[in-house]
Amino acid sequence: MDPEKNPDWLRMRELAALLRQYNHAYYLQDLSLISDQDFDRLLKELEQLENRYPQWVESDSPTKRVGGEVMSGFETREHLRPMLSLGNTYSKEELQSFHDRCCKSLGFIPQYCAELKIDGVAISLHYRNRKLEYAVTRGDGLRGDDVTANVQTIESIPLLLKPTAPSEAMEIRGEIYMGRSAFEQINRGKRDSGEETYANPRNFASGTLKLLDSKQVRQRKLSALCYQLDGDFEFLHGKARHHLRMALIAAWGLPVSDHRVGPSPFEKVLDYIHRWHSSRADLPFDIDGVVVKVDDFGQREELGYTAKSPRWAIAYKYPAQSVQTILQNVQFQVGRTGVITPVAHLQPVEVAGTTVQRASLHNDAEIRRLDLHIGDTVYLEKGGDIIPKITNVALALRPAGATKVGFPVTCPECGTSLVGHEALHYCENHRDCPPQILGRLEHFVSRKAMNIEHLGPETLGSLLQQHIIQDVADLYALTQGQLAQIERMGERSRTRLLLSIEDSKKTPFEKVLFALGIRGIGEVASLTLARKFQNMANLSTASREELMNIHEIGEKSADQILTWFTDPQNQSLWVRLASQGLSMTYASRTSPPSSASEQGIQDAKESRPLENKKLVVTGRFEHCDRETLKQRIEDAGGTILNSISSKLDFLVAGTEAGPSKLRKVEELGIATLSEEEILKILQGNS
Ligand code: IVH
Repeated sequence: MDPEKNPDWLRMRELAALLRQYNHAYYLQDLSLISDQDFDRLLKELEQLENRYPQWVESDSPTKRVGGEVMSGFETREHLRPMLSLGNTYSKEELQSFHDRCCKSLGFIPQYCAELKIDGVAISLHYRNRKLEYAVTRGDGLRGDDVTANVQTIESIPLLLKPTAPSEAMEIRGEIYMGRSAFEQINRGKRDSGEETYANPRNFASGTLKLLDSKQVRQRKLSALCYQLDGDFEFLHGKARHHLRMALIAAWGLPVSDHRVGPSPFEKVLDYIHRWHSSRADLPFDIDGVVVKVDDFGQREELGYTAKSPRWAIAYKYPAQSVQTILQNVQFQVGRTGVITPVAHLQPVEVAGTTVQRASLHNDAEIRRLDLHIGDTVYLEKGGDIIPKITNVALALRPAGATKVGFPVTCPECGTSLVGHEALHYCENHRDCPPQILGRLEHFVSRKAMNIEHLGPETLGSLLQQHIIQDVADLYALTQGQLAQIERMGERSRTRLLLSIEDSKKTPFEKVLFALGIRGIGEVASLTLARKFQNMANLSTASREELMNIHEIGEKSADQILTWFTDPQNQSLWVRLASQGLSMTYASRTSPPSSASEQGIQDAKESRPLENKKLVVTGRFEHCDRETLKQRIEDAGGTILNSISSKLDFLVAGTEAGPSKLRKVEELGIATLSEEEILKILQGNS
């Protein structure tokens, strides 16, 4: 008899399909469609049938599955260059200081470009052979979601650039947004059918871009405007200026805003800001300010970057809407690094479309500046993504006998005397202060760090309270039996959690470093440190001088790193984590680590032949594309510059290298390396 006609065969297929569906909902969508008991019953039934009919067992049967599968949805991709953010200001004085700083660093007065700051979602578009190859969201700045299929539905983004565009692989950055009329239309439909409306076009655009169904994305009519073309291609020769590049990409068919100005002197930029302040309501899309950028790329390079943002650009934001409310209380929260943050509890109030009932007060100085009293009527402002801020107090409305808000002298959680550095107050009882321990764990498991799922603050709190764990390394020794002591955690939840913990062992070193939560060391600094020192052993013995030699690591961060490593508890923590299988060695994207480097015992100097060297890469290469080559140079310790100056150590010249570049290096007496030579150096055969 055909198996298809056998009722047991049919039942097996049905059970497998059901179990797959339940697993999918459970592991990927956090949905329990069936009780644990019923799930186990169905699984057992399938197992029994499989024992009876081994010939009908499917290779991917749910009985063989250990647990969850990788979250489908979007693949992530690493950005070729981090997608940084912009420093921003609401004040004309600070804008003036930005200009003064630029003038001072450069030694002359630069010209600027000014553009509208579109309130949307940043996107990185990659073209090769003029075709849109892929598109990635900003994500955490280092890695984003590959949303190509959705971006392909956006009419204003060309799938193929005009024939005048070059065929090189290049990246263009811009903003995806939803126009006001498209947004209004969608909300009108929602209102008519009695549904809740969407809060604002920006969140809606961001949500739309993350939809799994591209057809739905197409219907939502997103738009885009591009604002950046980086890179040092031959065809960009003589185009090391922002306004020229914008004109160029517009000519290739990319959407670029017509409302841009520059190159202009600073005074013209001020006029532009003033003009758009009053006219912004007439635009077909939301803006939250103006971006001011130095036009010339050589000057940009001279001005450089902080760890988070370029020093050559700033966002001027238009003042936010201001509302009044009552200060009900001030609570002093203890963060994971021991810093005490005063948080204002407010009478709930609507600001810029959201209800606000908490606002950070930053520090003691801020409380004193405002001379806050409980019961005060305060002015609250919120602009874009900025956390609501108390800007002022209506003194005339202060109730009689109101209590003045004072900063505590001891930790509100553990009673330890607080110490102050640089306007902040700290509880230095890192080892035993409960919110610090919990905060460190929460940070460690968070998405941007070890990305351990199904381990929220409540479960972590219970694990700590019941003394099942004391620190992050204890997570890797957790057992089913221990987890069984946690209330409301069924067997499947326990398995799911243990799988996620196990899976986190694959997290790359730079994220492990970030997860350790060294004060002042964020994601970008962690990546920089991982690249420079290659492994934890090297980093743990780095001197203050070596740390300070790194462009993005300042004095304060260097000291924080040194302090962290001098604590024997921290030293033993990372060694324990390493022995539990966490990665303590940087694996560059281009060359996977050898087994020696896996153990963190490789001599970093040996693998970093270009340490402290500055290079420019130009021309075409036979064995790898230029971006990959640059990445490999950076992984070998080198710094890539965009233009030739006396600071340069080598020009790496492929075929068709620009003659003027070659001439310039000759004049300056700088060595040129061929493709063969640089590859030899990178392979360690120098
Ligand atoms: S230039 C290094 N220009 O604003 C960053 N950004 O933090 C260079 N944005 O999310 C960005 N309009 O996506 C630039 N005309 C414009 C912009 C713009 C909107 C967004 C950008 C980023 C944020 C800056």
